[in-house]
Amino acid sequence: MEKKITAGITAIGSYAPEKLLSNFDLEKMMDTNDEWIRSRTGIETRHMAADGEFASTIAIRSVEDLVKRFGKKAIEGVDLVILATSSPDALFPATASLVQSHFDLEAGAFDLLIACPGWIYGLSVAQAYVESGLLKKILVIGTEALTKLMDYSDRNISILFGDGAGAAVVEAVEAGYGFKSFILGSDGNGAKHLGIRAAADQFPDGTPIPDGPFMNGREVFKFAVRIMPNATLDVLKKADMSLDDIDLFVPHQANSRIVTAAADKLGIDHEKMILVVNEYGNTSTASIPLALADAYDAGKVKKGDNLVFVSFGAGLSWAAMVLTWSTD
Ligand SMILES: CC(C)(COP(=O)(O)OP(=O)(O)OC[C@H]1O[C@@H](n2cnc3c(N)ncnc32)[C@H](O)[C@@H]1OP(=O)(O)O)[C@@H](O)C(=O)NCCC(=O)NCCS
Repeated sequence: MEKKITAGITAIGSYAPEKLLSNFDLEKMMDTNDEWIRSRTGIETRHMAADGEFASTIAIRSVEDLVKRFGKKAIEGVDLVILATSSPDALFPATASLVQSHFDLEAGAFDLLIACPGWIYGLSVAQAYVESGLLKKILVIGTEALTKLMDYSDRNISILFGDGAGAAVVEAVEAGYGFKSFILGSDGNGAKHLGIRAAADQFPDGTPIPDGPFMNGREVFKFAVRIMPNATLDVLKKADMSLDDIDLFVPHQANSRIVTAAADKLGIDHEKMILVVNEYGNTSTASIPLALADAYDAGKVKKGDNLVFVSFGAGLSWAAMVLTWSTD
């Protein structure tokens, strides 16, 4: 019988721009204050792309970090680059192509647009390619230069977002390790609650799409505190696991209140949860890989550990994944 291939993550890297945009900086730009932002979101500061830094260059730095940690061999033979982003350099060409050419990879490349859960969606696509035997090695990146798209006269949304990127190599791993299950979700009825306009000025049901970034914070909040625990339970069930099997909970770093509410509803010990939103803000597709790389550096990710990733965002959309870490 043919041996089943199991896919997993064999290398990670991350990068956040040097420049910081603190709550105190925002106080000087709009009618807001540090106390309001911290108490409602847990965010203290965020990294901000400098002039000349974009989703492409930030992604490239995250892959350079991956190479620094795991060696040049880690990206040798990559045959596909999947780049999830909510702030691509351009609608086309794909930002993924800019990363592919920078590293001289003989690989296909495409951008994946499903807002914040994009990196998990990307991992699931990579898993399918690798486990089917169609491709061998895939670079999955989440990268954002969202501060370039924010309107800093609108305090409602601009205070939330920051810039950064995380990258992972997905390929075959030892049996018993790697991806265990994923779920992908979408509910386009919530499209009007969060987004940034591109070519259309209305949704299919005729609802106008405002100019620039738009968000109904309360609706998104309600959705998030419902979907995070539900998606976590669903993905564990699919993996035939329980909450007790989980070593590390890596949720989308949108807001500390949302993340802790989800963890508390599930009864997850805060020691097992990664929370770095205070430093990065919401970095959309980059949020989980950035948090994962920080956890890895802190020695919190060890071979054999079961990790749960769970994310939500515009769409409305969501995704979750269970992974058994396969590298030392
Ligand atoms: C955005 C969010 C922090 C707002 O918190 P909230 O408690 O719901 O606050 P409200 O929207 O009810 O606003 C409360 C008041 O603060 C004001 N306010 C809004 N933004 C503010 C800001 N940045 N600074 C100061 N005051 C602000 C509002 O105008 C309102 O004033 P009013 O009572 O005089 O009308 C919260 O709804 C949230 O986190 N939602 C989820 C957003 C998210 O995660 N989006 C990304 C998903 S990927």
